[in-house]
Amino acid sequence: MNIGVFASGRGSNFQAILDAIHQRILTASVSLLLSNKSDAGALEIARAHHIPAVHVSQKQFSDEPSFAAAMVRLLKEHDVQIIALAGYLKKIPIPVVREYRNRILNIHPALLPSFGGHGMYGHFVHEAVIASGAKISGATVHLVDEEYDRGPIVIQKAVPVEKGDTPETLAAKVLRVEHEIFPLALQAFAENRVIINERSAWIQ
Ligand code: GRF
Repeated sequence: MNIGVFASGRGSNFQAILDAIHQRILTASVSLLLSNKSDAGALEIARAHHIPAVHVSQKQFSDEPSFAAAMVRLLKEHDVQIIALAGYLKKIPIPVVREYRNRILNIHPALLPSFGGHGMYGHFVHEAVIASGAKISGATVHLVDEEYDRGPIVIQKAVPVEKGDTPETLAAKVLRVEHEIFPLALQAFAENRVIINERSAWIQ
């Protein structure tokens, strides 16, 4: 199974996917790393692993349809079968969502549907969780549809929110769980063990 990884940042989830492939926890290959940020650490990780690393962003195109068409072309050229959004902060263009219906996975650093949606990313999520007084948080892998953070949930894992936690200490606990569950979700797709109906997805 060829994975196309999209990342905007340092790429620790991307690295976790590569580690899982190396450890044979994930039987797949990453055939493309795409980033909207030319200075993303994830691009460097891809280059170090001789994985095609492409900087592409909407700004390089005159309109969204041409951007979307270029993204689909790039995905097809690299024979991408599943897209993993590993800290990708841009909305996926509708034509791409349609072309890869039920084949785009996103990792979110909270237990959706709580603490999700537009603007809920990075430290904003953990600040909101702590401010809410919630006693657990965690990570979610979900399918991507036309709205932010709304598609069917595939896998989640919780972590405790402890007295004295800061957004940084909570982020660190959640990140460890992200690195664990994203490869598990991808392997379930690789083995065709994900049952998807309208609003939910279950790993068999
Ligand atoms: C992760 O916390 C992920 O949940 C969120 O963006 C962050 C990406 O971190 N979507 P990294 O670039 O994978 O280290």
